[in-house]
Amino acid sequence: MTERIIIDCDPGVDDAAAILLAFGSSEVEILGITAVAGNIPLEKTEANARLICELANRTDIPVFQGCGRPLLYPARAGVTVHGMDGLGDIGLPKPASAPAARTAVQFIIDQVHAAPGDVTLAVLGPMTNIAVALSVDPGIAPLIKRIVFMGGAAFCPGNIKERAEFNFYFDPHAAQAVMASGIPMVMFGLDVTHKAIITQERTERLKRLGRIGSTIADMLNAYGAGDPCLHDPCVIAYLIEPEIFSGVEGFVEVDCVSSLAIGQSVVSLTERELAGRAPNCLVMTEVDHDRLFSLLEERYQRVELEAS
Ligand code: RIB
Ligand code: CA
Repeated sequence: MTERIIIDCDPGVDDAAAILLAFGSSEVEILGITAVAGNIPLEKTEANARLICELANRTDIPVFQGCGRPLLYPARAGVTVHGMDGLGDIGLPKPASAPAARTAVQFIIDQVHAAPGDVTLAVLGPMTNIAVALSVDPGIAPLIKRIVFMGGAAFCPGNIKERAEFNFYFDPHAAQAVMASGIPMVMFGLDVTHKAIITQERTERLKRLGRIGSTIADMLNAYGAGDPCLHDPCVIAYLIEPEIFSGVEGFVEVDCVSSLAIGQSVVSLTERELAGRAPNCLVMTEVDHDRLFSLLEERYQRVELEAS
């Protein structure tokens, strides 16, 4: 059955790799792409999302501008492995299309009401847009089919801080608000995404596909110098072929108070840790990374054919 999704993202090279994977996969129907501040400021993440659609000749997919800063904290300007332009500084043009008028938050609310129980949110960046949508219209929570997201680090160190993964660290309050929403969740934290390593051999195979493959390979080579893990495509790959992954059910919450561990994902698994609470999230821990990269290659080939 086709999975109807909204991709919420902060492109970002691995976000771009995830969006292109979705373009090449008929298992998912992309209702729209919503951009959020994260890897780089919102103006660039939104423009990059439009550019990725243009590169793949998919300007039929609407792109919406979301939140430009986290719920409480100012946007933390960090060193970004995504380059100044957010797509690896490989010399890509500016997008030709114009931004959509509607906001990302209103688009999410409208789509969920239009198809109750049928829309999955694929969240690839800080969760600010989702948290704001849930605040503007709390009634959408029971209407969202599920949220499959990249964020957190359940049983391993963080990447932006010793105990925190970037998406959760950038907006911990939004992450906690979403984790507490009661919406069915599937978490792709660093536990599993750190096992999806970009190698030279793999990017060389992508280069041989053609224009699209060569572009994403150049982006990944630039990005991989700072972060060799392919985080965001895991979310889309799960929607296409869930059996590539495996994990455990747990209760996930986000530390929003500790000065030393702000943004840390705290995961309870055992009966004692759960303390009577039902699990709220499937926490992914394993991936068949060879199958994941074969899927990328296979689906980028389709994007190549459809874009030509
Ligand atoms: O920690 C990795 C996550 O942070 C990925 O989504 C990457 O794009 C950045 O947003
Ligand atoms: Ca991202």
